Amino acid sequence: MPTATTQTTYLLRHPTPTELTHIRTQHSTCWAGALTVSQYLTREDHIASTPLTRNGGMTQWVLVDAAADPAHVLASCEAIRKKALVAHTPVDGEKRVPVEEVVAYGIGSVFTPPECRGNGYAKVMLTMLGERLKRHNGQRAGFSVLYSDIGKQFYAKLGWLPHKSSHIELPVRTPAPPRIHPSRVQPLYHADIAPLCALDTAALRTALSTRHPKTRIAFVPDHGTMDWHHNREEFIGACVRPDLGAPAIKGCITASGTRWMVWGRDFSVAGPRLYVLRVVDFGPEEGRREDLMALLSAAVEEAGRWGLGKVVVWNPAESVVGAAGAVVDGVVGVERESDSIASLMMYGKGGSGEAEVEWVLNEKYAWC
Ligand SMILES: CC(C)(COP(=O)(O)OP(=O)(O)OC[C@H]1O[C@@H](n2cnc3c(N)ncnc32)[C@H](O)[C@@H]1OP(=O)(O)O)[C@@H](O)C(=O)NCCC(=O)NCCS
Repeated sequence: MPTATTQTTYLLRHPTPTELTHIRTQHSTCWAGALTVSQYLTREDHIASTPLTRNGGMTQWVLVDAAADPAHVLASCEAIRKKALVAHTPVDGEKRVPVEEVVAYGIGSVFTPPECRGNGYAKVMLTMLGERLKRHNGQRAGFSVLYSDIGKQFYAKLGWLPHKSSHIELPVRTPAPPRIHPSRVQPLYHADIAPLCALDTAALRTALSTRHPKTRIAFVPDHGTMDWHHNREEFIGACVRPDLGAPAIKGCITASGTRWMVWGRDFSVAGPRLYVLRVVDFGPEEGRREDLMALLSAAVEEAGRWGLGKVVVWNPAESVVGAAGAVVDGVVGVERESDSIASLMMYGKGGSGEAEVEWVLNEKYAWC
Protein backbone atom coordinates (compact mmCIF):
# COMPACT_ATOMS: atom_id res chain seq x y z
CA MET A 1 0.00 0.00 0.00
CA PRO A 2 1.53 3.35 -0.97
CA THR A 3 1.95 5.97 1.73
CA ALA A 4 0.25 9.32 1.42
CA THR A 5 3.45 11.01 0.38
CA THR A 6 4.38 8.56 -2.40
CA GLN A 7 0.95 8.03 -3.92
CA THR A 8 0.44 10.02 -7.11
CA THR A 9 -3.31 10.03 -7.57
CA TYR A 10 -3.97 12.93 -5.25
CA LEU A 11 -5.76 15.92 -6.62
CA LEU A 12 -5.90 19.43 -5.20
CA ARG A 13 -9.09 21.14 -6.25
CA HIS A 14 -11.65 23.69 -5.11
CA PRO A 15 -14.57 22.39 -3.05
CA THR A 16 -18.16 22.55 -4.25
CA PRO A 17 -20.47 24.85 -2.21
CA THR A 18 -21.94 21.77 -0.49
CA GLU A 19 -18.50 20.44 0.36
CA LEU A 20 -17.47 23.84 1.68
CA THR A 21 -20.44 24.01 4.02
CA HIS A 22 -19.68 20.48 5.23
CA ILE A 23 -16.00 21.30 5.81
CA ARG A 24 -16.82 24.50 7.67
CA THR A 25 -19.38 22.70 9.81
CA GLN A 26 -16.70 20.19 10.70
CA HIS A 27 -14.06 22.77 11.60
CA SER A 28 -16.51 24.90 13.56
CA THR A 29 -15.56 22.62 16.48
CA CYS A 30 -12.04 24.11 16.26
CA TRP A 31 -12.65 27.74 15.34
CA ALA A 32 -16.25 28.86 15.98
CA GLY A 33 -15.39 30.07 19.49
CA ALA A 34 -18.45 31.75 21.00
CA LEU A 35 -20.44 31.55 17.74
CA THR A 36 -23.11 28.96 17.04
CA VAL A 37 -22.46 26.73 14.01
CA SER A 38 -24.99 28.73 12.03
CA GLN A 39 -23.34 32.04 13.01
CA TYR A 40 -19.93 30.59 12.15
CA LEU A 41 -21.07 29.55 8.68
CA THR A 42 -22.54 33.01 8.09
CA ARG A 43 -19.32 34.63 9.36
CA GLU A 44 -17.20 32.60 6.97
CA ASP A 45 -19.38 33.75 4.06
CA HIS A 46 -19.30 37.31 5.36
CA ILE A 47 -15.53 37.58 5.63
CA ALA A 48 -15.17 35.90 2.25
CA SER A 49 -17.11 38.80 0.74
CA THR A 50 -14.88 41.71 1.82
CA PRO A 51 -12.91 43.68 -0.82
CA LEU A 52 -9.79 41.67 0.08
CA THR A 53 -11.34 38.25 -0.25
CA ARG A 54 -14.08 38.52 -2.90
CA ASN A 55 -13.59 38.03 -6.65
CA GLY A 56 -11.00 35.31 -6.21
CA GLY A 57 -9.17 37.02 -3.34
CA MET A 58 -9.80 33.96 -1.23
CA THR A 59 -9.63 30.43 -2.57
CA GLN A 60 -10.57 27.19 -0.84
CA TRP A 61 -8.72 23.99 -1.49
CA VAL A 62 -9.38 20.32 -0.84
CA LEU A 63 -7.27 17.21 -1.25
CA VAL A 64 -8.97 14.16 -2.72
CA ASP A 65 -7.72 10.84 -4.04
CA ALA A 66 -8.85 10.80 -7.66
CA ALA A 67 -8.32 7.04 -7.98
CA ALA A 68 -10.23 6.09 -4.84
CA ASP A 69 -13.13 8.48 -4.27
CA PRO A 70 -12.78 11.93 -5.83
CA ALA A 71 -15.76 13.14 -3.77
CA HIS A 72 -14.18 12.21 -0.43
CA VAL A 73 -12.41 15.24 1.05
CA LEU A 74 -9.26 14.15 2.85
CA ALA A 75 -8.00 17.59 3.96
CA SER A 76 -8.82 21.24 3.31
CA CYS A 77 -7.52 24.78 3.70
CA GLU A 78 -7.88 28.25 2.24
CA ALA A 79 -5.57 30.94 0.88
CA ILE A 80 -6.03 34.69 0.87
CA ARG A 81 -4.27 36.68 -1.83
CA LYS A 82 -2.61 39.86 -0.58
CA LYS A 83 -0.36 42.61 -1.84
CA ALA A 84 3.20 42.41 -0.61
CA LEU A 85 6.60 43.93 -1.21
CA VAL A 86 9.93 42.21 -1.70
CA ALA A 87 13.31 43.97 -1.70
CA HIS A 88 16.38 41.98 -2.75
CA THR A 89 19.56 43.91 -2.11
CA PRO A 90 21.71 43.65 -5.26
CA VAL A 91 25.31 42.56 -4.90
CA ASP A 92 26.67 45.62 -6.68
CA GLY A 93 27.11 48.99 -5.03
CA GLU A 94 23.69 50.47 -5.81
CA LYS A 95 22.45 52.63 -2.95
CA ARG A 96 18.76 52.19 -3.77
CA VAL A 97 17.22 48.74 -3.77
CA PRO A 98 14.42 47.88 -6.21
CA VAL A 99 11.19 47.16 -4.34
CA GLU A 100 9.00 44.70 -6.16
CA GLU A 101 5.26 44.59 -5.60
CA VAL A 102 4.18 40.96 -5.56
CA VAL A 103 1.22 38.78 -4.84
CA ALA A 104 1.57 36.78 -1.63
CA TYR A 105 -0.74 34.33 0.09
CA GLY A 106 -1.87 33.79 3.64
CA ILE A 107 -2.89 30.16 4.14
CA GLY A 108 -5.36 29.30 6.87
CA SER A 109 -7.97 26.86 8.15
CA VAL A 110 -5.73 23.85 7.54
CA PHE A 111 -7.96 20.95 8.51
CA THR A 112 -8.13 17.18 8.24
CA PRO A 113 -11.38 15.50 9.36
CA PRO A 114 -10.73 13.61 12.61
CA GLU A 115 -11.30 10.19 11.04
CA CYS A 116 -8.68 10.92 8.34
CA ARG A 117 -5.88 12.23 10.56
CA GLY A 118 -2.42 10.75 10.82
CA ASN A 119 -2.31 9.51 7.21
CA GLY A 120 -0.17 12.31 5.83
CA TYR A 121 -3.05 14.08 4.06
CA ALA A 122 -2.33 17.55 5.45
CA LYS A 123 1.31 17.19 4.43
CA VAL A 124 0.41 16.16 0.89
CA MET A 125 -2.15 18.94 0.55
CA LEU A 126 0.26 21.62 1.77
CA THR A 127 3.11 20.33 -0.37
CA MET A 128 0.87 20.52 -3.43
CA LEU A 129 -0.57 23.89 -2.44
CA GLY A 130 2.84 25.43 -1.78
CA GLU A 131 3.80 24.56 -5.37
CA ARG A 132 0.44 25.56 -6.83
CA LEU A 133 0.48 29.04 -5.30
CA LYS A 134 3.84 29.87 -6.86
CA ARG A 135 1.88 30.61 -9.99
CA HIS A 136 -1.85 30.73 -9.56
CA ASN A 137 -4.43 32.29 -11.89
CA GLY A 138 -1.61 33.47 -14.13
CA GLN A 139 0.09 35.43 -11.34
CA ARG A 140 3.53 34.62 -10.02
CA ALA A 141 3.66 34.90 -6.23
CA GLY A 142 6.53 36.23 -4.12
CA PHE A 143 5.87 34.12 -1.04
CA SER A 144 3.24 32.51 1.15
CA VAL A 145 2.79 32.51 4.90
CA LEU A 146 0.73 30.77 7.52
CA TYR A 147 0.29 31.13 11.24
CA SER A 148 0.81 27.77 12.85
CA ASP A 149 -1.23 26.81 15.89
CA ILE A 150 0.55 23.46 16.12
CA GLY A 151 4.08 24.55 16.90
CA LYS A 152 7.08 25.23 14.69
CA GLN A 153 8.04 21.79 13.39
CA PHE A 154 5.14 20.58 11.27
CA TYR A 155 5.12 23.46 8.80
CA ALA A 156 8.90 23.99 8.91
CA LYS A 157 9.39 20.47 7.57
CA LEU A 158 7.17 21.43 4.64
CA GLY A 159 9.11 24.63 3.89
CA TRP A 160 7.28 27.33 5.89
CA LEU A 161 9.99 28.49 8.28
CA PRO A 162 9.21 30.12 11.63
CA HIS A 163 9.84 33.85 12.06
CA LYS A 164 9.74 36.07 15.10
CA SER A 165 6.50 35.39 16.95
CA SER A 166 6.48 37.42 20.14
CA HIS A 167 4.04 39.81 21.72
CA ILE A 168 3.35 41.85 24.80
CA GLU A 169 0.13 41.74 26.78
CA LEU A 170 -1.10 44.74 28.72
CA PRO A 171 -3.59 43.66 31.41
CA VAL A 172 -6.90 45.50 31.45
CA ARG A 173 -8.22 46.02 34.95
CA THR A 174 -11.53 47.29 36.23
CA PRO A 175 -12.07 49.95 37.23
CA ALA A 176 -9.97 51.34 34.38
CA PRO A 177 -7.03 53.54 35.38
CA PRO A 178 -7.35 57.18 34.31
CA ARG A 179 -6.26 57.79 30.72
CA ILE A 180 -2.66 58.94 30.35
CA HIS A 181 -2.30 62.14 28.31
CA PRO A 182 -5.91 61.93 27.04
CA SER A 183 -5.61 65.17 25.07
CA ARG A 184 -2.68 63.77 23.06
CA VAL A 185 -4.78 61.29 21.06
CA GLN A 186 -8.06 61.10 19.25
CA PRO A 187 -10.05 58.11 18.02
CA LEU A 188 -9.90 56.74 14.49
CA TYR A 189 -13.05 55.66 12.70
CA HIS A 190 -13.61 53.56 9.58
CA ALA A 191 -13.28 56.51 7.19
CA ASP A 192 -9.93 57.54 8.70
CA ILE A 193 -8.18 54.26 8.01
CA ALA A 194 -7.73 54.27 4.20
CA PRO A 195 -5.68 57.50 3.94
CA LEU A 196 -3.51 56.47 6.88
CA CYS A 197 -2.87 53.09 5.26
CA ALA A 198 -1.78 54.91 2.09
CA LEU A 199 0.75 56.97 4.08
CA ASP A 200 1.98 53.88 5.89
CA THR A 201 2.43 51.99 2.62
CA ALA A 202 4.33 54.82 0.96
CA ALA A 203 6.70 55.01 3.93
CA LEU A 204 7.18 51.25 3.86
CA ARG A 205 8.21 51.35 0.20
CA THR A 206 10.79 54.01 0.98
CA ALA A 207 12.12 52.10 3.98
CA LEU A 208 12.52 48.92 1.95
CA SER A 209 14.39 50.70 -0.81
CA THR A 210 17.48 51.24 1.35
CA ARG A 211 20.32 48.74 1.29
CA HIS A 212 20.08 45.85 3.75
CA PRO A 213 22.10 42.66 4.11
CA LYS A 214 19.02 40.44 3.89
CA THR A 215 16.11 40.14 1.51
CA ARG A 216 13.21 41.98 3.08
CA ILE A 217 9.53 41.24 2.69
CA ALA A 218 6.37 42.85 4.02
CA PHE A 219 2.65 42.60 3.52
CA VAL A 220 1.28 45.92 2.36
CA PRO A 221 -0.61 47.39 5.34
CA ASP A 222 -3.46 48.45 3.10
CA HIS A 223 -7.04 49.32 3.78
CA GLY A 224 -8.37 46.04 2.36
CA THR A 225 -6.36 44.11 4.93
CA MET A 226 -7.49 46.24 7.87
CA ASP A 227 -11.05 46.14 6.58
CA TRP A 228 -10.98 42.34 6.57
CA HIS A 229 -10.09 42.36 10.29
CA HIS A 230 -12.73 44.98 10.99
CA ASN A 231 -15.44 43.08 9.14
CA ARG A 232 -14.55 40.07 11.22
CA GLU A 233 -14.72 41.88 14.55
CA GLU A 234 -17.95 43.65 13.60
CA PHE A 235 -19.62 40.37 12.68
CA ILE A 236 -18.48 38.55 15.80
CA GLY A 237 -19.14 41.58 18.01
CA ALA A 238 -22.74 41.76 16.80
CA CYS A 239 -23.18 38.06 17.67
CA VAL A 240 -21.54 37.99 21.08
CA ARG A 241 -21.98 41.56 22.39
CA PRO A 242 -25.06 42.95 20.63
CA ASP A 243 -25.65 45.14 23.70
CA LEU A 244 -22.55 47.21 22.90
CA GLY A 245 -23.43 48.20 19.35
CA ALA A 246 -20.94 48.25 16.48
CA PRO A 247 -17.26 48.54 17.44
CA ALA A 248 -16.83 51.91 15.74
CA ILE A 249 -13.45 53.01 17.08
CA LYS A 250 -10.78 51.38 14.95
CA GLY A 251 -7.69 52.86 16.57
CA CYS A 252 -6.30 56.18 17.71
CA ILE A 253 -3.90 58.84 16.49
CA THR A 254 -1.79 61.51 18.12
CA ALA A 255 -2.77 65.16 17.77
CA SER A 256 0.35 65.67 15.64
CA GLY A 257 -0.81 62.92 13.27
CA THR A 258 2.62 61.30 13.17
CA ARG A 259 1.86 58.27 15.33
CA TRP A 260 -1.15 55.98 15.33
CA MET A 261 -2.46 52.52 16.07
CA VAL A 262 -5.05 50.51 14.21
CA TRP A 263 -6.72 47.84 16.32
CA GLY A 264 -9.32 45.10 16.27
CA ARG A 265 -11.24 43.18 18.90
CA ASP A 266 -10.99 39.45 19.43
CA PHE A 267 -13.94 38.02 21.32
CA SER A 268 -12.51 34.50 21.64
CA VAL A 269 -13.76 32.45 24.55
CA ALA A 270 -10.20 31.51 25.47
CA GLY A 271 -9.17 35.10 26.10
CA PRO A 272 -11.00 38.13 24.78
CA ARG A 273 -8.50 40.81 23.82
CA LEU A 274 -7.91 43.94 21.84
CA TYR A 275 -5.29 43.32 19.17
CA VAL A 276 -3.17 46.17 17.94
CA LEU A 277 -3.07 45.39 14.23
CA ARG A 278 -0.45 48.00 13.34
CA VAL A 279 1.66 50.54 15.24
CA VAL A 280 2.86 53.45 13.09
CA ASP A 281 5.56 55.73 14.43
CA PHE A 282 6.67 58.49 12.06
CA GLY A 283 7.19 61.08 14.77
CA PRO A 284 10.43 62.61 16.03
CA GLU A 285 12.31 61.19 19.01
CA GLU A 286 11.07 64.04 21.16
CA GLY A 287 7.65 63.14 22.57
CA ARG A 288 7.83 59.53 21.40
CA ARG A 289 7.41 57.96 24.82
CA GLU A 290 4.50 60.23 25.77
CA ASP A 291 2.77 59.65 22.43
CA LEU A 292 3.11 55.88 22.66
CA MET A 293 1.93 55.91 26.26
CA ALA A 294 -1.11 57.94 25.25
CA LEU A 295 -1.93 55.57 22.36
CA LEU A 296 -1.53 52.46 24.52
CA SER A 297 -3.52 54.01 27.31
CA ALA A 298 -6.37 54.70 24.88
CA ALA A 299 -6.16 51.07 23.70
CA VAL A 300 -6.40 49.81 27.30
CA GLU A 301 -9.40 52.03 27.93
CA GLU A 302 -11.13 50.83 24.75
CA ALA A 303 -10.46 47.20 25.67
CA GLY A 304 -11.98 47.82 29.11
CA ARG A 305 -15.08 49.36 27.55
CA TRP A 306 -15.58 46.14 25.58
CA GLY A 307 -14.85 43.81 28.48
CA LEU A 308 -11.66 42.53 26.79
CA GLY A 309 -9.07 41.31 29.29
CA LYS A 310 -5.90 42.49 27.61
CA VAL A 311 -4.29 44.53 24.88
CA VAL A 312 -1.89 42.57 22.70
CA VAL A 313 0.88 44.02 20.50
CA TRP A 314 2.79 41.66 18.20
CA ASN A 315 6.56 41.98 17.80
CA PRO A 316 6.62 45.43 19.40
CA ALA A 317 9.50 47.89 19.02
CA GLU A 318 11.53 48.55 22.18
CA SER A 319 9.93 51.98 22.41
CA VAL A 320 6.47 50.38 22.55
CA VAL A 321 7.57 47.88 25.21
CA GLY A 322 8.97 50.71 27.32
CA ALA A 323 5.83 52.81 26.96
CA ALA A 324 3.61 49.84 27.81
CA GLY A 325 5.45 49.32 31.10
CA ALA A 326 4.83 52.96 31.97
CA VAL A 327 1.11 52.69 31.21
CA VAL A 328 0.17 49.63 33.31
CA ASP A 329 1.79 47.29 35.79
CA GLY A 330 2.10 43.63 34.92
CA VAL A 331 2.92 43.82 31.21
CA VAL A 332 3.86 40.32 30.06
CA GLY A 333 6.25 39.53 27.21
CA VAL A 334 5.51 36.27 25.38
CA GLU A 335 7.65 34.30 22.91
CA ARG A 336 5.05 32.10 21.29
CA GLU A 337 6.13 28.49 20.80
CA SER A 338 2.94 26.76 19.80
CA ASP A 339 0.28 29.14 18.49
CA SER A 340 0.21 31.83 15.80
CA ILE A 341 3.76 31.06 14.72
CA ALA A 342 4.44 33.34 11.74
CA SER A 343 5.83 30.95 9.10
CA LEU A 344 7.20 31.94 5.71
CA MET A 345 7.90 30.19 2.41
CA MET A 346 9.73 32.30 -0.17
CA TYR A 347 9.20 31.58 -3.85
CA GLY A 348 12.23 32.11 -6.03
CA LYS A 349 15.87 32.35 -5.14
CA GLY A 350 17.20 32.37 -1.57
CA GLY A 351 15.97 30.77 1.63
CA SER A 352 12.93 31.40 3.79
CA GLY A 353 14.42 31.47 7.28
CA GLU A 354 15.28 34.40 9.50
CA ALA A 355 18.94 34.12 8.51
CA GLU A 356 18.12 35.03 4.92
CA VAL A 357 14.91 37.04 5.09
CA GLU A 358 13.74 39.86 7.31
CA TRP A 359 9.97 40.00 7.63
CA VAL A 360 9.31 43.71 8.05
CA LEU A 361 6.13 44.80 9.88
CA ASN A 362 5.54 41.30 11.18
CA GLU A 363 2.50 42.58 13.05
CA LYS A 364 -1.00 41.32 13.64
CA TYR A 365 -2.52 43.00 10.56
CA ALA A 366 -0.77 40.39 8.39
CA TRP A 367 -2.41 37.50 10.23
CA CYS A 368 -5.19 35.50 8.65
C1 LIG B 1 -3.14 19.52 12.23
C2 LIG B 1 -3.87 18.65 11.22
C3 LIG B 1 -4.29 19.50 10.03
C4 LIG B 1 -2.92 17.54 10.76
O1 LIG B 1 -3.59 16.80 9.78
P1 LIG B 1 -3.13 15.31 9.37
O2 LIG B 1 -3.67 15.04 8.03
O3 LIG B 1 -3.46 14.39 10.45
O4 LIG B 1 -1.57 15.52 9.32
P2 LIG B 1 -0.51 14.57 8.61
O5 LIG B 1 -0.97 13.16 8.74
O6 LIG B 1 -0.18 15.07 7.26
O7 LIG B 1 0.75 14.84 9.48
C5 LIG B 1 0.81 14.31 10.77
C6 LIG B 1 1.82 15.15 11.53
O8 LIG B 1 1.13 16.28 12.08
C7 LIG B 1 1.51 16.42 13.42
N1 LIG B 1 0.44 17.03 14.19
C8 LIG B 1 -0.88 16.81 14.10
N2 LIG B 1 -1.53 17.53 15.02
C9 LIG B 1 -0.59 18.25 15.69
C10 LIG B 1 -0.63 19.17 16.77
N3 LIG B 1 -1.79 19.52 17.34
N4 LIG B 1 0.53 19.69 17.20
C11 LIG B 1 1.70 19.36 16.62
N5 LIG B 1 1.81 18.48 15.60
C12 LIG B 1 0.66 17.93 15.15
C13 LIG B 1 1.70 14.98 13.86
O9 LIG B 1 2.50 14.94 15.02
C14 LIG B 1 2.40 14.38 12.68
O10 LIG B 1 3.78 14.66 12.74
P3 LIG B 1 4.91 13.62 12.21
O11 LIG B 1 4.62 13.39 10.75
O12 LIG B 1 6.20 14.32 12.43
O13 LIG B 1 4.69 12.40 13.01
C15 LIG B 1 -5.13 17.98 11.86
O14 LIG B 1 -4.72 17.33 13.04
C16 LIG B 1 -6.26 18.95 12.18
O15 LIG B 1 -7.10 19.22 11.34
N6 LIG B 1 -6.28 19.48 13.41
C17 LIG B 1 -7.32 20.42 13.85
C18 LIG B 1 -7.19 21.77 13.17
C19 LIG B 1 -5.81 22.37 13.31
O16 LIG B 1 -5.25 22.46 14.41
N7 LIG B 1 -5.24 22.81 12.18
C20 LIG B 1 -3.94 23.41 12.12
C21 LIG B 1 -4.03 24.86 12.33
S1 LIG B 1 -2.47 25.68 12.17
